[in-house]
Amino acid sequence: MPSSSQSEALFEKARGRMPGGVSSPVRAFGKVGGTPRYISRASGAHLWDEDGNQLLDFCMAWGPAILGHSHPAVVEAVTRTARDGLAFGTTHRNEVRLAELVLSAFPEAQLARFVVSGTEAVQTAIRLARGHTGRPLTLKFTGCYHGHVDSLLVKAGSGVVTQGLSDSLGVPEGLAATTVVVPLDDEQALAQAFEAYGPRLAAAIVEPLPANNGLLVQRKAWLEALRAHCTKNGTVLIFDEVINGFRFHFGGYGRNVGVTPDLTTLGKILGGGLPVAAVVGKREILSKLAPLGAVYQAGTMAGNPVALAAGIATLEELQKPGVYEKLEALGAHLEAGWKKHAKGLSMARIGSLFWPYLDARPVPTTAEGIDAEVVGRFHARYRTWLDKGVYLPPSGYEVGFLSTAHTPADVDRLLEVLFSEA
Ligand SMILES: Cc1ncc(COP(=O)(O)O)c(C=O)c1O
Repeated sequence: MPSSSQSEALFEKARGRMPGGVSSPVRAFGKVGGTPRYISRASGAHLWDEDGNQLLDFCMAWGPAILGHSHPAVVEAVTRTARDGLAFGTTHRNEVRLAELVLSAFPEAQLARFVVSGTEAVQTAIRLARGHTGRPLTLKFTGCYHGHVDSLLVKAGSGVVTQGLSDSLGVPEGLAATTVVVPLDDEQALAQAFEAYGPRLAAAIVEPLPANNGLLVQRKAWLEALRAHCTKNGTVLIFDEVINGFRFHFGGYGRNVGVTPDLTTLGKILGGGLPVAAVVGKREILSKLAPLGAVYQAGTMAGNPVALAAGIATLEELQKPGVYEKLEALGAHLEAGWKKHAKGLSMARIGSLFWPYLDARPVPTTAEGIDAEVVGRFHARYRTWLDKGVYLPPSGYEVGFLSTAHTPADVDRLLEVLFSEA
């Protein structure tokens, strides 16, 4: 059993000083039990903890590290930029370059606004949609996570189409009620929602590939139906691509399925490990943002030059030939190995994202279809895997991530650890 005494001592101290000892809840290992590992270094596909244990990482900072940790080109760009100043609080060249790169990846978009987190990007997109349409409501789908925006921290009430009830204390009822919630993968529920609320819906927001509550792959026909309802009702369609953006090719998942949104939110990979997020979309809508328009949004740290340098270096690496082919090949290797070793258990996989669903039934496509007992199997085994040096996201509801730093042998090791009996 590897030692974790340093991690334990740090966690003990942290718990006395920070709520739950963490800066973000899932890091507390609440679902899988035990002590979170305190990481002192990350390189390539590996992490090292304070006790000197090496871990093969399939969490990859929850997505940003698509090139592996500490990629030399990204670290070099950050270091070089930092020498010239950490923050200017005004305009600079890196903003123009990153805007150019991002807009080339989303041809339907003409303008980009940089912010600091995915949550902030979503908050901005929702406000923008309300300001653009003059309407109050947002349609969202059960199981999609869009950051901790007040009005989106909602669950559905009973019934297929419901106005939201808050999942969190501290969200006024009236604010939660501005969100209408329906299940994914259900054309009838969509039609009912637009029938009941269409003229008051400012926005419909969806992860086109929902990847925050398992990996719930949606049918193209369902996404097309959503697009059609939005167009017909004058509702702004927002694709939340904070996880998906730049993950499968140099652009968004919308292009994988041939459905085009009005606005897209980005984060994670966009900052290559530093805090960068964005809203991109049609000029007609983005022009409503201050200083051009009357929808207010601002940020001291928005467009930080060092963070943007990491984003630029990451996107430039991703544009090199063969990168996405390599990620797809690794994903396919995992899928083939899974079929061989997983004893009939299921896994969802799109490109370099995967979700183990440790059951013989097919992977569900809706949040309602996820069996908590199946996810519990992941939680029960997690610490054994960790002790063998494999670091998966510490929740069975989260997806795993592959990066260009992983090798087929790393994937084989993952399978061996997950499915060896010892
Ligand atoms: C689809 C999606 N939207 C929004 C967010 C929120 O981003 P952040 O954690 O940077 O605020 C996340 C984070 O996981 C996400 O996956």
